[in-house]
Amino acid sequence: MKEKLEALKVEALAKLQEVTDPQVLNDLRVKYLGKKGELTEVLRGMGGLSAEERPVIGQVANLVRGAIEEIIGAKQEAFQQQETLNRLNAEKVDVTLPGRRLPQGGIHPISRVVQEIEDIFIGMGYRVAEGPEVETDYYNFEALNLPKNHPARDMQDSFYLTEDILMRTQTSPVQIRTMQAMKGETPVKIICPGKVFRRDDDDATHSFQFHQIEGLVIGPNIRMSDLKGTLQQFVQEMFGPNTGIRLRPSFFPFTEPSVEVDVSCFKCGGHGCRLCKQSGWLEILGAGMVHPNVLEIGGYDPAEYSGFAFGMGAERIAMLKYGIDDIRYFYTNDMAFVKQFKGI
Ligand code: DAH
Repeated sequence: MKEKLEALKVEALAKLQEVTDPQVLNDLRVKYLGKKGELTEVLRGMGGLSAEERPVIGQVANLVRGAIEEIIGAKQEAFQQQETLNRLNAEKVDVTLPGRRLPQGGIHPISRVVQEIEDIFIGMGYRVAEGPEVETDYYNFEALNLPKNHPARDMQDSFYLTEDILMRTQTSPVQIRTMQAMKGETPVKIICPGKVFRRDDDDATHSFQFHQIEGLVIGPNIRMSDLKGTLQQFVQEMFGPNTGIRLRPSFFPFTEPSVEVDVSCFKCGGHGCRLCKQSGWLEILGAGMVHPNVLEIGGYDPAEYSGFAFGMGAERIAMLKYGIDDIRYFYTNDMAFVKQFKGI
């Protein structure tokens, strides 16, 4: 029996020594040490041994088992180390390689103009307000002193969703919404940039969707001269320190008096050129003193408070500023067009 055990040991160690595959190692472990393995098989014969022989053979058997287990353990560890090493090699990252460059984006010229205008007015103490693009007839027209059937509604032919709901045609409804939200508190001093929608045929200067920036100031003693000074300051920051303004009488239902505001042509300095059609002036916005009816609807007593308002088109300003002659360029996602504004 002793010889059998010794022979088993020699055979097992020789085979195990040569193993290079974890699966084979496991098979050999089962073959020698498993419940039905060869060592167990030999030990089963111990029942027939004498009492003196049994401990001697038992000891030998333990030594054989120990030797086999030891080599299996060592092999297992070696396999695990190899596996870890393989994984580390496979997942190796060369941190010295240059990175993959993603193309850098730029800010769309309309967003750029809106941001610039926002910055200028924020610098004068204004707050940026927002309102819904889907608006009620009441806020878009009625509360702005444009009752149903008012002829001035024709100027803003509109997309109606129902009898009373439409895509806003102007940012002016935010005037009323802001006044009502402020519940009579002063000063009201906001600008509101946003999209507006009109049933216009698209051409070089018209689009069914464009951007406006509304302004509203209300307080005690707000006068026309405050409007003038504010706009003068604005155009100098927007178009350059030598830019002047000119006010012409106009009509808007929500302001009285109303004015159309021109800037002196920043391209030719007012001498006359192609941009200003030789007039020396460029029309950039509508403005006026807030109509008493509008103040009242907004919750401000016209006897106590007054205010001014203005509204301008972002596309028009961008077109003038960057010399763009067709509004449709802004919306066609033409990379050649958009890329020109990347570094400005
Ligand atoms: N909402 C006007 C338009 O779309 C622009 C405008 C003119 C806004 C005068 C104003 C204003 O706030 O006072 O044509």
